[in-house]
Amino acid sequence: MPASPDPVPASPERQRRAWTGRAGFYVRNGWLLWAAFRLWLLGLGGLPEAPRHALREHPHATRLMGLDIANPIGLAAGIDRSGRLLRGASRAGYGFSEVGSVTPQSLAASVRRLGRRRPPGRIMPRGVNIRPAAGASAERMIDDYLHCLRRLLPVADYLVLNLSSPFARRGWAADPVWLESLLTRAVEARDQYHRDGGGRVPLAIKVALAPRVSRRQQQALLSCRRAGLDGVLLVAVPGQAEAAVCHCLRQVKDLIGEMTLISVGGIVCPTQLTGRLAAGAAAVQLFSAVLGQGPGLPGRWLEQLHPDPRPGPHREEAA
Ligand SMILES: Cc1cc2nc3c(=O)[nH]c(=O)nc-3n(C[C@H](O)[C@H](O)[C@H](O)COP(=O)(O)O)c2cc1C
Repeated sequence: MPASPDPVPASPERQRRAWTGRAGFYVRNGWLLWAAFRLWLLGLGGLPEAPRHALREHPHATRLMGLDIANPIGLAAGIDRSGRLLRGASRAGYGFSEVGSVTPQSLAASVRRLGRRRPPGRIMPRGVNIRPAAGASAERMIDDYLHCLRRLLPVADYLVLNLSSPFARRGWAADPVWLESLLTRAVEARDQYHRDGGGRVPLAIKVALAPRVSRRQQQALLSCRRAGLDGVLLVAVPGQAEAAVCHCLRQVKDLIGEMTLISVGGIVCPTQLTGRLAAGAAAVQLFSAVLGQGPGLPGRWLEQLHPDPRPGPHREEAA
């Protein structure tokens, strides 16, 4: 009997479609899975966190806005709203985690829970994502961002101004004067904290871009660079083809230069992780996939990730 041929590996596009189908099922049943995933992280949090040497020894260890991370897979904002799940996320193998979004209303509880910032590099970095209160006017939004930022500087490893939220300014790039005012005041508050001896906290924005980067958005991204921001979290629009997302990432990376690019949105398989990193992202963040694929996702995905698939200039230099 002739030997059966070796199984043909699925093409990246078939892999992605298979995962998307699964993720779609889980997203439709989202709240239950969200609750289950949170419970699981909460349970894992009882175990000790990875010490510093484990971060450095990891084959996928890299740096994100100057912070050591064990690998480029992060948990997106919206899963851990107050910092309760950080230890569990670290234990589950995520490279970093973003708490929030924190609003002026939830600020006091988040600051209490996060406590003081731990020494850099000792544990999984924790970002905190900030958004304004629902229904705030444009000027009030800036006050909300700044108020949260000042209170969170002592407890966050990095901070994100969330401009992709439905409660943030619509068309974040449409009003350059407003954006410039937000960015310069936020960077000034961050730098003042640094001058006062509080340490330098990297600052980023989270924005959603349409398949093409419009001229206004190009200008807005350049003003982020001029203002002294450290990173951009780029959210892919639902339904956007993977090739278009990667094209967009390359365009944005060219615009923002040495600033750190983080890709979020629609990442459901390791092939996409590799693709987004190769397109210039220093790391990715996951939301839907972690609900769908549950425990063990970082380990399984990292097995398929060749150490450092990114071209040199796109990867922050390992310390
Ligand atoms: C139920 C839900 C709540 C979310 N809450 C937040 C949030 O509070 N702050 C934020 O920046 N993003 C939030 N997001 C957006 C996610 O962080 C992420 O950008 C988005 O889900 C795309 O990633 P995904 O395709 O992996 O799901 C939320 C998303 C969902 C589905």
